[in-house]
Amino acid sequence: MTSAEIPLDDLLREDRRFPPPEGFSERALVSDPAVYEEAEADHEAYWARWAGELDWFEPWEKVLEWDPPHARWFTGGKLNVAYNCLDRHLDGPRRNKAALIWEGEPGDVRTYTYWDLHREVSQLANGLRELGVKKGDRVAIYLPMVPEAAISMLACARIGAIHSVVFGGFSPNSLADRINDAQAKVLITADGGYRRGNVIPLKRNADDALERTPSIEHVVVVARGWNIARTTQTSLKPGRDLWYHDLIRGVPTKCQAEPMEAEDHLFVLYTSGTTGKPKGVVHSTGGYLTQAYATTKWVFDLQEDDVYWCTADVGWITGHSYIVYGPLANGATMVMYEGAPDFPHRGRFWELCEKYGVTVFYTAPTAVRAFMKWGEEWPARYDLGQLRLLGSVGEPINPEAWVWYHRHIGRDRCPIVDTWWQTETGAIMITPLPGVTETAPGSATRPFPGIRATLFNESGEETRSGYLAITRPWPSMLRGIWGDEERFRKTYWSKWEDPGIYFAGDGAKVDDDGYFWVLGRVDDVLNVAGHRIGTSEVESALVDHPAVAEAAVVGKTDPVKGQAVAAFVTLREGKEPSAELVVALQTHVAEVIGAIARPQQILFSADLPKTRSGKIMRRLLRDIAEGKALGDTTTLADPNVVERLKRRYEESGNGGG
Ligand code: WT7
Repeated sequence: MTSAEIPLDDLLREDRRFPPPEGFSERALVSDPAVYEEAEADHEAYWARWAGELDWFEPWEKVLEWDPPHARWFTGGKLNVAYNCLDRHLDGPRRNKAALIWEGEPGDVRTYTYWDLHREVSQLANGLRELGVKKGDRVAIYLPMVPEAAISMLACARIGAIHSVVFGGFSPNSLADRINDAQAKVLITADGGYRRGNVIPLKRNADDALERTPSIEHVVVVARGWNIARTTQTSLKPGRDLWYHDLIRGVPTKCQAEPMEAEDHLFVLYTSGTTGKPKGVVHSTGGYLTQAYATTKWVFDLQEDDVYWCTADVGWITGHSYIVYGPLANGATMVMYEGAPDFPHRGRFWELCEKYGVTVFYTAPTAVRAFMKWGEEWPARYDLGQLRLLGSVGEPINPEAWVWYHRHIGRDRCPIVDTWWQTETGAIMITPLPGVTETAPGSATRPFPGIRATLFNESGEETRSGYLAITRPWPSMLRGIWGDEERFRKTYWSKWEDPGIYFAGDGAKVDDDGYFWVLGRVDDVLNVAGHRIGTSEVESALVDHPAVAEAAVVGKTDPVKGQAVAAFVTLREGKEPSAELVVALQTHVAEVIGAIARPQQILFSADLPKTRSGKIMRRLLRDIAEGKALGDTTTLADPNVVERLKRRYEESGNGGG
């Protein structure tokens, strides 16, 4: 597939529109569409107004210096992110407000007020300083979803250390690579974390990694799983390792927040996409916090009495921007949950929503499709009456999954914000504003005020269907790839002649209303008889069928058409695979979006291969469809899924199609 094969065919027509529900706009923080024009009139002044809502130790001199591809925002200004997330809330009534309501998978609960969080962050910050961590040093964080994850990030921010959070589901190898790339000095981990009733042995994984990470001087271990105490398989290495609770015991509860330059680095976060050496995406302090703060406030319409729950893991950018920094900078109350959505039962999330009175709920399409597969009887058992706003991020959401989410979780009362952004963009870029935007299932709608996005073809001409590009710098943009300037320029800033245009790697179309429809990664685009087909449209046509919960489509070499459509389909609970269903689905796709997209092969599968963050890995499905040896499977959440699928595919001859 060469990249010259854009623009994409426009197949799927989705005409349903959902205006903000009755009464929503009246109560919303923003309900006037004039915000878009106001931002456009002077985008620097607009972002400066947002930055002005943060607390600065010293004001900035210049809003933006743009030397493509390098932007500097709010230069000369000094601030501290932890101060903005904690200290500034301590003077008024937020002092005793719940900042973090945490529930562990076994059901243990801890609630931290802003005051509590400030105390523990300060203690850990002092503890890290005692271990020799200084401004600019890197600290790796490899933790389950426990409060100490957020506390560790904030403690680093407080002393100006750069954190590198590594998702707790990553292997020792992945951890070691990330530690070594950033040359982290300290690792914060836990003895374990709970997942589907098991204790994940994080410290044991870390010990394995630590055999080849010479830069690490100390390891701080949170006692969570208590599996070190229970077993002799691993232990604390004297002189190097210490317990978190010992490190903070008796330590002063005040810790001066380091005044940081706006452009100082706040964190590095590794993103691998679906293949290749992970890139350490570097984010700034002032610009990053400004956009994380602004988007959290407007996109989630975050108000003083909301109970906000983002189900992501802190190991992903979503967890950084929309569990930790955005919500806390806004003084919000949030829920954090350690475990899986289906343990001990498939109603776990709804039970938590009911228990804590969650009002704003933000999750990923992969989760919505799982809920849909499990059936609406699960959420129906719970009182979700407090919910008022829903969000989606991570992949295109199939319109049918969107409508299911709207009906069975939102009970037709809650707007859905489908938010498009990336690890690299740091914060939300394309999204509805829930009190303003008429939403459309499957569309992230319009760029956030102040953001400019455009579609280009290969030669850099504007089109209505092509490559998604960001054409103006934005405050939370990545500042680089750790230690690899060349890769930074090549990956994001050299697709077109103009070095100031950011290439996002996604294909998209834009409709008459100016709404953006992301069609998938450009590497995944199919070419069937000269028609360029984005994966999301065919997948959504399949998910549109009442028997289907999830689908992935790939191109398979075809002597006549160049490529033929091969589909991998997961059925809803209670639906059985059959030859009739194959024909019914083929016909359905042909009817919904046209004969050109009719899958030549359909294979039913209980699971699809996904990355650890839940994105469908089409590259491996392509290998299966082509009968090739499987490529790199190390980024998969569960490598068995793809092995099983490959066997089934081979056994089924033509996959039943
Ligand atoms: C890629 C970025 C941003 C936090 C989680 C993912 C896809 C993300 C959407 C959306 C369609 C989406 C894109 C993007 N994506 N959100 N609302 N609609 N596609 O971060 O791992 O850096 O992935 O996720 O393909 O490029 P990430």
